[in-house]
Amino acid sequence: MSSTPSRGMWSSRAGFILAAAGSAVGLGNIWGFPTQVGQGGGATFVVVYLACVFLICAPLMVGEIALGRRTRLSPVGAFAALAPGRRWWLVGALGVAAGVGILSFYSVIAGWAVAYIWFAATGAVSGGPDEIGRFFSEFTGNGVVSLALVVLVIGTTAAVLLGGVRTGIERVTKALMPFLILLLLALALRAVTLPGAGAGLAYYVSPDLSRLADVGVFTSALGQAFFSLSLGMGCILTYGSYLGREDSIAGSALWIVALDTSIALLAGFIIFPVGFSIAGFDPTASGPGLIFTVLPRLFAEMPGGHLFGGAFFLLLSVAAITSTISLLEVPVSHCVDALGWSRTKAVAAVAGAVFVLAVPSALGNGAVAVFTNVPGFGMGFLDLMVAAWNEFALPVGGCLTAIFVGRVWGVDRALEELRAEGAWFPAPAFWTLLIRWACPAAIALVLVAWLAATF
Ligand code: PFF
Repeated sequence: MSSTPSRGMWSSRAGFILAAAGSAVGLGNIWGFPTQVGQGGGATFVVVYLACVFLICAPLMVGEIALGRRTRLSPVGAFAALAPGRRWWLVGALGVAAGVGILSFYSVIAGWAVAYIWFAATGAVSGGPDEIGRFFSEFTGNGVVSLALVVLVIGTTAAVLLGGVRTGIERVTKALMPFLILLLLALALRAVTLPGAGAGLAYYVSPDLSRLADVGVFTSALGQAFFSLSLGMGCILTYGSYLGREDSIAGSALWIVALDTSIALLAGFIIFPVGFSIAGFDPTASGPGLIFTVLPRLFAEMPGGHLFGGAFFLLLSVAAITSTISLLEVPVSHCVDALGWSRTKAVAAVAGAVFVLAVPSALGNGAVAVFTNVPGFGMGFLDLMVAAWNEFALPVGGCLTAIFVGRVWGVDRALEELRAEGAWFPAPAFWTLLIRWACPAAIALVLVAWLAATF
């Protein structure tokens, strides 16, 4: 179970926090979170989301990092090493599948973000809400362009992984994250001072408690929390396997959760004030196009809007790429570790599989009818993938991981790892309660309710 020298380590604890935050901060925060808030009833969703993040996801993140650091293995190997001869490795295998599945739709949206760098910077997308909306549907309805953008995104991710990237990821993330935060702050300041922004702020910060009766709010908030924090699929476990033994796991996890959550919340302070400043805006109806149809309105009205718009989509694309890298790393490291493939062969094979699975998501936005409205599901293929992976596979993976840490590996052994070398670990009894009881029970309840509501 000890580390092989060739596996490598982060250069420092800060390096780990930045790489993991780079994985966590991505389309999930800026595209996914506002979209889900819009569909899930505004501030009510935000409250449920925050509860999921702090009571379910943060304790689980600590457990995932500990599993990775203890075993120094990728997910399948980590579960197999701590429960030899049992089937727990299947939880790792589900994570490997999730890496491929999530990347297949993620790369489609990342491709849109890349194209919008150009559209925003050159002013190609402009005019009133109707024109901006029409531009988006025509653009996403063009199957050839969407597929070309997917190739670009997957190709860039594969190239980064092939290049032995650890220092690359660390360096790029370190340099760009502060710009992303500053730009988001500047845009939020502009957004909240727009005429009519008050209604958007009210929608975002005043919860309507009657919505708590809707189980859909809980399933989407839980799925979104897992997705945003890159949890439930062994990604954080893999990154944790490169963490030094003297580094505090709890402290690192708190940083990652705080960074990820503040960036998601900040995105909402931009989108909703801008959205509500447009007459007739309906957040529930916007769907996956929300940021692509709302934000160009802000850029059109700001002095220097082309520059801000171009920079915004550029940073969004960079944030997306640091996440696609971590998504691809999970299946790739598995093929290298378990199948003994070379890194090049693993990257080529997994990237190819992701592309094939991405085709229906890329063509499901108007280009091909059966993918745009999948018969029997009443939604497009892309939305179906979001629901299957985010709302189902990640929570299932998370629930089983919590059971594994709390009951199979055992809290005592986990705590030993968490407190190694005298590391800071607050409230071990509370953490034990959450990981053994609250996390698995809450996730299982939400999943059962989801299944009951869906079938
Ligand atoms: N956390 C990323 C985001 O919010 O965009 C998406 C993601 C990356 C999910 C890595 C899962 C993962 F393993």
